[in-house]
Amino acid sequence: MSTVSDVPLVDRVADLRTAVDAVRRQGGSVGLVPTMGYLHKGHQSLVIRSATDNDLTVVSIFVNPLQFAEGEDYGTYPRDLDRDMEMCAAAGAGLVFAPVTEEMYSQTPITSVTVKGLNAVLEGRVRPTHFDGVATVVAKLFSMLGPGRAYFGEKDYQQLVVIRRMAADLSLPVEVVGCPTFRESDGLALSSRNVYLSPEERPAASVLWRSLQAGRDAVAEGSRNPDEVEAVMAAVLAAEPKASPEYAAAVDAATLARPDVLGGELRLLVAARVGQARLIDNLGVDCDRL
Ligand code: PAF
Repeated sequence: MSTVSDVPLVDRVADLRTAVDAVRRQGGSVGLVPTMGYLHKGHQSLVIRSATDNDLTVVSIFVNPLQFAEGEDYGTYPRDLDRDMEMCAAAGAGLVFAPVTEEMYSQTPITSVTVKGLNAVLEGRVRPTHFDGVATVVAKLFSMLGPGRAYFGEKDYQQLVVIRRMAADLSLPVEVVGCPTFRESDGLALSSRNVYLSPEERPAASVLWRSLQAGRDAVAEGSRNPDEVEAVMAAVLAAEPKASPEYAAAVDAATLARPDVLGGELRLLVAARVGQARLIDNLGVDCDRL
């Protein structure tokens, strides 16, 4: 175990288990914030929340190869462990777990966690293997640590729904806590991938938030037709010359199914490319409280 920025850093599963077992033996609670590093204020808000709720907060930092397909940005995904350690310390993390790939996957895994259906819609249409990779690594992290609570940002809303369902289906003794998206002043959701935006592209990236707001306004004005609401969101995306829209969807917040008539708790979700950056965002809308 080494210590950088006052927070212990472990890279071995055995050391991780020793540290969390010691806390649990004293009756302490353990919260996990799984990340792929290159942390920002959104990640820090998860750490702060976990540090409020738990005696020990563990931040995992691991760029998981299983959730990247051929041709995606696994090799170039931004990494900066020293900066991440500073950010973890400032937010109140008690331990950082940053394993190398060989420690996480000592042999090529032939076991995979599939959350059927939820892995195939929306992002899953564009990235068909992505959620199996996410569910598998998160299941491994849960099993390595045994956290009582685990914290995920609503920014990756489909991921949150997938992990909640996985934990429920496998009866994993962990509370999956969803936390609000952190935004820039123009509404752009914080993401490690925003670093791919050039200064010229950056203002255009707020189009996702503008599109979601237009969708919410359409529902607030009385539209209950998903085609209509999605068309409103898609039109906003299409009007931004620097953006290449991928999808605009209005779905049930719990199941991600597309209803015939909008009602209850909805999630509006959009995806678009701006330059090299592939951006996603979403917004909750409760039809009964507008
Ligand atoms: O959201 C992320 O950063 C990743 O998908 C996660 C949950 C850490 C799994 O690799």
